[in-house]
Amino acid sequence: CGIVGVTGRMDTTQVLVSGLKKLEYRGYDSAGIYVNEGNGRDHLVKAQGKIKNLEEKIDGDVTGITGIGHTRWATHGIPSIENAHPHFSSDERFYLVHNGVIQNFGSLKKEYLSDVNFQSDTDTEVVVQLVDLFAKQGMDTMTAFKKAISLLKDSSYAFVLMDRQMPETLFVAKNKSPLLIGVGDDFNVVCSDALAMINVTNKFIELRDGEVVAITPDAIEITDENNRSIQRDPFEVDIDQSDTDKGTYPYYMLKEIDEQPAVIRRIESKYISQEGNVHFDEKLLEQVSKASRIYIVGAGTSYHAGLVGKKIFEKMTGIPTEVVLASEFAYDDPLIEKDAFFIFLSQSGETADSRQVLVRVNEEWQKNSLTITNVANSTLAREAQFAVTLEAGPEIAVASTKAYVAQIALETLLAVAIGRYNQRDSALHFDVAGQLSRVANAIQTVVDEKSQIEKIAESNLTNTRNAFYIGRGLDYDVALEAALKLKEISYVQAEGFASGELKHGTIALIENGTPVLGLITQTKTADHTRSNLEEVISRGANVITITSEKLQRDGDNIILPEVDEILTPLVSVVATQLLAYYTTLQKGYNVDQPRNLAKSVTVE
Ligand code: G6P
Repeated sequence: CGIVGVTGRMDTTQVLVSGLKKLEYRGYDSAGIYVNEGNGRDHLVKAQGKIKNLEEKIDGDVTGITGIGHTRWATHGIPSIENAHPHFSSDERFYLVHNGVIQNFGSLKKEYLSDVNFQSDTDTEVVVQLVDLFAKQGMDTMTAFKKAISLLKDSSYAFVLMDRQMPETLFVAKNKSPLLIGVGDDFNVVCSDALAMINVTNKFIELRDGEVVAITPDAIEITDENNRSIQRDPFEVDIDQSDTDKGTYPYYMLKEIDEQPAVIRRIESKYISQEGNVHFDEKLLEQVSKASRIYIVGAGTSYHAGLVGKKIFEKMTGIPTEVVLASEFAYDDPLIEKDAFFIFLSQSGETADSRQVLVRVNEEWQKNSLTITNVANSTLAREAQFAVTLEAGPEIAVASTKAYVAQIALETLLAVAIGRYNQRDSALHFDVAGQLSRVANAIQTVVDEKSQIEKIAESNLTNTRNAFYIGRGLDYDVALEAALKLKEISYVQAEGFASGELKHGTIALIENGTPVLGLITQTKTADHTRSNLEEVISRGANVITITSEKLQRDGDNIILPEVDEILTPLVSVVATQLLAYYTTLQKGYNVDQPRNLAKSVTVE
C-alpha cells in the first residue's frame, strides 16, 4: 500500500524507514526494505506487523546508497514475511516493490515461469521473476523491465525495481496506482504519497500511466509508452511538516476532529471574498450551471458527503443531482444525459474505484468533470477538467473526519456559486459566509464539550455488540456516516437507518438495551423521528438523542448549537465522530489505524 525509494543518500535506510512511518497511517500488515551499499553488499529486511517490528530487525549494518521500501496491505496472499515486499528473483539479482494488482499473474506464471521455484504467493513475485528471465535472455535491465510490463493485462501497478548489478539506479513504472518522484540535490527519491518524503524534498514530479523511469542520484529519465523521452517540471508540495505531527494529541483522529472549526474558516477565507462573493473558476461555473444533471461520485466517507451535497446542490442550483458509489458506477450501464456534469469527491484523490469512473467519464462518455480533493496534483485532480482543494490539511487518521466536513463546506460554496450564477433566489439570499461562520462556532462548541460525549460513549456504546443510528433526510445521511465511523474504528456493528424504514424490517433487531441513536435536526421530520424512537423504546431500546437547540426536548442527550437546517450535518457529525473516538479509546483499540483498513485504497 505504500512505496518509497531513494538513490544518492548516505542515510538511505533511515530515509526509507522514516518514509514508511509516514505512510503507516494508510494501513498495512507487513513491511520491508532492500538497500544496496554499492560495493557488492546489500541487505533485505522484512517484518510482519508494525514498522517498529521492522526497525527492530534493522541493525547498524543495514546501510546503503540506494534502496526501496514497502508497506503491504494484503490483496493476493495472506500477510506474512514471505509475502511482504520487496520480492526478489531466484538468483537474488532483482528486487521489486509493487502497489496494485496484476490480474493475469496466474497465466504468466504458467506460460513463462513453470521452472521457477516461487518464494511467495504474490502476484508481484511473478513480475520480478519475469524481469530476471528476460535479463537472462540477454536484455538489458530496462528492456527486460519493459518487456515484463508489456505482458501485464488489465493490471494496476506502481513498481520500483532494483538490479544488484546497477546499484545506483531505481527503475520505476506506473499504471493506475499513484507514484511520484521527489527531486533533491545530488539525490532523488520515489514515493506513492508526497507525505512520505516531505522531510527530504518538497519538489515532486508526477508520473502518468504507461511511463517508465530510470532514476539515479543526478538524473531522472522518463519515457512514455512509445519510448519518447518526456521532460516534466517538478511542482512544489505545500505541506508544513508540523501538519503531519500529532503534537500533544494522543491520536491524529482527535487532532483532526478538533481542527474542524479552523478548516471551515480556512475554506471560507480561500473561497469567499470580503464582500461575501464566492469565487471559483468562471469556466467551471459556466459549465456546471448548464448541466441538466450533476453526478456526485465517491467512496466511503466521501460518498456520504456526496449524499448531503445532493440536497444542498438541488436546493441551491435546482439541478437534479445523483450520488453514486464509485465501485458500482464504474461497471454499471447508466443512461448518461448529454449535459451531465461529474463531481468527484475524494479526500486522497487516488481511490481506484473513483478513478475508474473518471476514466469512463473522460473516454467513454466524454463529459466535463471536477474533482474536489484534499491532495492537489493527485491523480483524480489531474485527470478531471477542473480541480479544487479542500484546504483541510493532511488527514492522517484512517477514519475520515475533517475531510467530510470540508467536502460538505466546499459543496455548499460551489452550489451557492452555481445557484447565484443562474440567478436563483435560494442561492442569492443564502448568506453563505455568515452561515459557515456559525457552523465553525457551533463545531467549536461541540468539541469544547467533548467530555460530555465521552461519558455518553462510555455508558452506552463501549460494551455493546451493535448500535443503530437513525434519522430522516439529512439526518439519515449523517446516520450512515456516523455508523460507518463507529464500526470502522470501534468494531461495534453499527448501521444507519432511515427512521421511517425501521418498522419495515429493521425493528426486528431491537433487543433489550440495544443502543439507538436518534438524529433530530430537521423541523419537517423531527416529530416523525421522535415517534420512531418511541417505537424502539417500547421494544426495549436504549435511546440516545442528538438534537438541535430549536428542536430539543427534556431528556435529550446531546444538544447542538443552532445553524441553518441545510448545514446541520456539519455539526451533528462532529458529535458522532467523538462518540466513535471515545468508544474506541475505551475499548483499547488503535484509533488511528483500525484493522484491515487502508486510508487510500488504490485497488478496485
Ligand atoms: C478508504 C478510506 C475511507 C475513505 C475511502 C474513500 O476506504 O478508509 O476513509 O472514505 O477510502 O477515500 P477518498 O480518498 O476517495 O475520499
